[in-house]
Amino acid sequence: MNVVLIGAQWGDEGKGKMVDYLAADAQIIVRFSGGANAGHTIVRNGEQFALHLIPSGVLYPDKTVVLGSGMVIDPEALFAELSMLESRGIDWKGRVLISDRAHVVLPRYRDVDKEMEASRKMPIGTTGRGIGVAYAMKASRDGVRLADINDPARLANLEPADMDFLSEWAERLSPLAVDLTNYLDHHRNAYILFEGAQGALLDLDAGTYPFVSSGMSSAAGAAAQGGIGPRAIDKVLGVFKAYSTRVGNGPFPTEFDENSQSALCQFVRDTGREYGVTTGRPRRCGYLDLVALRYACLANSIDSLILTHLDVYDTLDSFEACVAYKVNGTLVEHFPASVSDLDGAQPVLRSFRGWKRSLAGVRRYDELPIEATDYISFIEEFTGTAIDIVSVGYDRQETIVRKSPWIRY
Ligand code: GDP
Ligand code: IMO
Ligand code: MG
Repeated sequence: MNVVLIGAQWGDEGKGKMVDYLAADAQIIVRFSGGANAGHTIVRNGEQFALHLIPSGVLYPDKTVVLGSGMVIDPEALFAELSMLESRGIDWKGRVLISDRAHVVLPRYRDVDKEMEASRKMPIGTTGRGIGVAYAMKASRDGVRLADINDPARLANLEPADMDFLSEWAERLSPLAVDLTNYLDHHRNAYILFEGAQGALLDLDAGTYPFVSSGMSSAAGAAAQGGIGPRAIDKVLGVFKAYSTRVGNGPFPTEFDENSQSALCQFVRDTGREYGVTTGRPRRCGYLDLVALRYACLANSIDSLILTHLDVYDTLDSFEACVAYKVNGTLVEHFPASVSDLDGAQPVLRSFRGWKRSLAGVRRYDELPIEATDYISFIEEFTGTAIDIVSVGYDRQETIVRKSPWIRY
């Protein structure tokens, strides 16, 4: 069974926590896109792990994790992460594989990334990890795949420094290489979880271009870049927070106003620990944008939503969510492509009552306060998508499952 999990906002929705949670019932976890720009946090019995490249199922000793064909892999970052796991008692040898079609991030890509940002009139706010450059090289057919690193004919166009770098890492990378489609075909009866990076609104095609990342963070990426075809996907899960965040630049219609809502913004940022895992940058925060969420559901065939960070609203008397925009005085109910329209969009907000009690210990849906289930029901109705899992804290255990994604229905 193939279950795909993606972020349904601008990243950092809690994908790491949810992949770790759902991986308990999977045998293989395949991360299909992005690179060391991602930061996926897992908290297991109070112990925190931050992963950038390795799929979030790696903490279980019996799971195989695969870095998929759509990933762009910085060998230095990869082996630093593997060493970190090793030093914390996670034995990864023999169960971390890399698609031989995945691309390598060369050190100079990071410099080019930073130079391009510095020369942009409207900087994107990239993570500076060379991600956009690696995908551009891939698209221009000048990239280096894992399958090519021991093939001198394929490397003929590279500069000597690149060749030196690759020969330094080839010996450690090559043993991890796998033909992903063939591998997954051999495990076609396994329970496989496909882990997205970034989020639907950072996807190169469907996101708020040009303020996006350069990979396929949409559900379609699992098919194009996860080694399976589109009809092999059994279910698509979309993770979203009770509110919205974004790191870096770009439109964000529901962003809290830095003057009139600065206390609320700081409260959400601190309570939700909204600081980038990769760059440490404070995340921009705002109310939940339901117009954007509905768009993400439609553009990704999301079967089932996972709501995280509901606990962050525990102490609020009331809060709001965006149900439409006003653009140049006109009511807009869909998510526009134009960045100028999104920049100028005034959110039309609907108010919700807070529940004023801690959700931390809640493990059953029927134990949630009525104000929380009212919010959930409204989101389900607005997006036309069921919310089957609710997360009420960062720890693995702080999770309420209404319907397991591993059951076929
Ligand atoms: P990812 O990129 O989607 O994996 O998300 P990040 O790890 O970048 O950011 C999510 C942050 O929220 C991490 O610090 C998680 O530990 C934390 N988190 C995940 N789910 C919840 C939740 O339900 N409640 C709270 N308070 N924190 C959560
Ligand atoms: P996870 O997987 C949030 C953002 C960057 C920047 C834009 C382009 O942890 O959700 P890039 O370095 O990819 O060229 O930057 O995308 N970005 C993310 N924002 N979560 C992420 O990953 C992100 N990965 C990239 O901040 O705005
Ligand atoms: Mg993250």
